[in-house]
Parts: sequence; structure tokens; C-alpha cells
Amino acid sequence: MVIAIDGPAGAGKSTSARMLAERLSFAYVDTGAMYRIVTWLALRDRIDLDDGLALVAACKPHEWTVEHGRVLVDGEDVTVALRQSRVDRDVSRVAAHAEVRELLRERQRRAAATGNVVIEGRDIGTVVCPDAAVKIYLIADEEERARRRTAERPVSDSATLATELRRRDQADAEQSRPAPDATTIDTTVLELNEVVEQMVRLVDAVSAGRE
Ligand code: DC
Repeated sequence: MVIAIDGPAGAGKSTSARMLAERLSFAYVDTGAMYRIVTWLALRDRIDLDDGLALVAACKPHEWTVEHGRVLVDGEDVTVALRQSRVDRDVSRVAAHAEVRELLRERQRRAAATGNVVIEGRDIGTVVCPDAAVKIYLIADEEERARRRTAERPVSDSATLATELRRRDQADAEQSRPAPDATTIDTTVLELNEVVEQMVRLVDAVSAGRE
């Protein structure tokens, strides 16, 4: 079974998707991390971020794996580096290229085809896995999402993070929309475990319908 979870930055996707996967003993695939890997490689290797073909060519020779929450690129642990503000700043620019999206879409589909998977991103329910058994779209008030981002990145100042979040929302809007058959969960006033409970109930309902 494929469970697709989409939504904007700070809506609570990563943590709730990871918890749901653990709870169900499903694999967990973070597609945002893939866009971050391409961005990190491009910044490191000084690739032109406006050249989609160059970005694809630059990342093809590299091996990357995501296991147990750690991201390795050619054996180097880049988990923390992927969350740097310079990656936050440029990732939407990289993700806007059709060539980059095509490359990563194939990898994402292969990851989803491995069996029971919780896969999270922006366009999973609409483009990557339109046949997913369960589609969830998480939202939260902008103020609350900015507050969560500040909590995750305590060294940055909150006004800058709020501006950055707003800019990224606009840049990501093109690929970030709910599938018509997705269930929307507003996480603004929910605790994490309540979000996961709602997700489990949706999965249970779908599983019962299939029996
Ligand atoms: O979820 P995140 O913040 O780690 O995602 C990083 C960026 O990658 C985000 O700004 C938009 C982009 N992204 C995308 O375009 N499509 C996806 N399926 C996942 C992420």
C-alpha cells in the first residue's frame, strides 16, 4: 500500500509521515530530501542553478541513499547539511526545473514501488503516485508553520524564517496542490500524535474497504 502525504513546509509532514511509517512498519520516503540533495551537490560543485540540464548531469554520477533517517551522498553523511539555510533558500529554484523533476520522479516512483510505503512531498498524490491508496494533504496556518520552522532552526531569527517560508510557499505553489481525492488535515491546533491518529484512521478505513 502506498500512502501519499503532501503539503507545504512546516505543515508537519516529515515528522508525522515518519511516525506513521514506524507505526505501520512501512518504509518512509522523504522526496524533499532528494531535491535538497541535488541543491546541496549543485552548491558544492558550483553548478548554475538556472540550468536544469546541467543540474541533472551534475547529480547523475553520484550515489545517494536514505536509510534510518540519515542521508548519505557518495558515503558522506549530509543529513545536517541538507537543512542549512543556503539549501532552504535555493531548493525551490532547483525543484522548479522540469528536467530535475523528471529525474527525481523516476527515483521516487521506484522507491514507492517497493511495497508498503509512506511517501511525502508536494506532488506525490497528484503526479508521482496518482494511484496511491491513501492521499493526505496537511495544512497549517502560516504563523504556526513559521513558529515550527523557528523551533527546528533555533539559530535563525524568526522574522527571516517567516519571510523565507512565504517566499518558498510562492515558489513551490506550482507543484504543491492537493489531489482531488486527498483528505486534508489542518494541523494548526493538533498535537503530533493526534495528526498520526487521524492518519491511522484513514488508513484503517481504506484497508477495511479493500477486504
Ligand atoms: O519538504 P522539504 O522542505 O524538505 O522540501 C524541499 C523543497 O523541495 C521544497 O521547497 C519543494 C521541493 N519539493 C518538491 O518540489 N516536490 C516534492 N515532491 C518535494 C519537495
